[in-house]
Amino acid sequence: MPSVEEYNEKHDLKIPAHIAIIMDGNGRWAAKQGNPRLTGHHAGVKALEKTVQACAEEGVKYLTVYAFSTENWKRPEEEVTGLFQMISLYVRQYTRKLKKENIRVQILGEYEKLPEPAVRSCRYIVEETGDNTGMVFNICLNYGSRGEITRAVKQIVRRCQDEGDSLTAEDITEELISSCLYTAEMPDPDMIIRTGGEKRISNYLLWQSAYSEFVYTDVLWPDFGREELMKCIAEFNGRHRRFGGLDHK
Ligand code: FPP
Repeated sequence: MPSVEEYNEKHDLKIPAHIAIIMDGNGRWAAKQGNPRLTGHHAGVKALEKTVQACAEEGVKYLTVYAFSTENWKRPEEEVTGLFQMISLYVRQYTRKLKKENIRVQILGEYEKLPEPAVRSCRYIVEETGDNTGMVFNICLNYGSRGEITRAVKQIVRRCQDEGDSLTAEDITEELISSCLYTAEMPDPDMIIRTGGEKRISNYLLWQSAYSEFVYTDVLWPDFGREELMKCIAEFNGRHRRFGGLDHK
């Protein structure tokens, strides 16, 4: 049996350094089986576990997933509460495993506004895995990209107004804006996957996705795993990235 590296080399697969995912389709997956939506989210966590594992094994450097958006508060209260309970529980439960696997977890978004148990679980996993040197696993929680950019602009304006800081309008560069986003010091995503058949960006990584390749699949998130991930990576490999230039492969 060849190692993952040997297999990828043979098939000439280039592994994206940063993969971002919109995990869509949990509700429909549950409905298809006549079950409540939350069962779909629970199955979604299992799919996430498999995907994290596969990404780490394949040598992905950054994996960023959209777990709860600032717009998701509009869902029925029962679903929102259930999602937070689930997130607190699983985040705590997976901490030891992720720590052992040298995966560093970061939370992107205004997660401090979530219920207290979820906030505590998030702080715990970030702290416990903080010294890990392997794949960075970003969980977007209470995240919205327009909110993230607005927050960055506020930070910059405050610095311009701060008498102790010599920042002026001329100092405002793309690099400075990038450094004020939650993703500061990370490369932009090479590929953004959206499951569940919809083809929208849904307020996700708007600034960071300027040159990302979008890969859409009809597979519902709970059915996602290594096999589907490799199909997406194969599709990414078939794309010709030019970054706005003429020939940049
Ligand atoms: C979208 O499917 C999915 C979500 C809003 C939640 C995704 C969250 C997880 C998979 C859990 C993350 C957990 C941890 C521990 C990070 P949907 O409900 O919109 O599906 P639908 O379009 O079929 O209704």
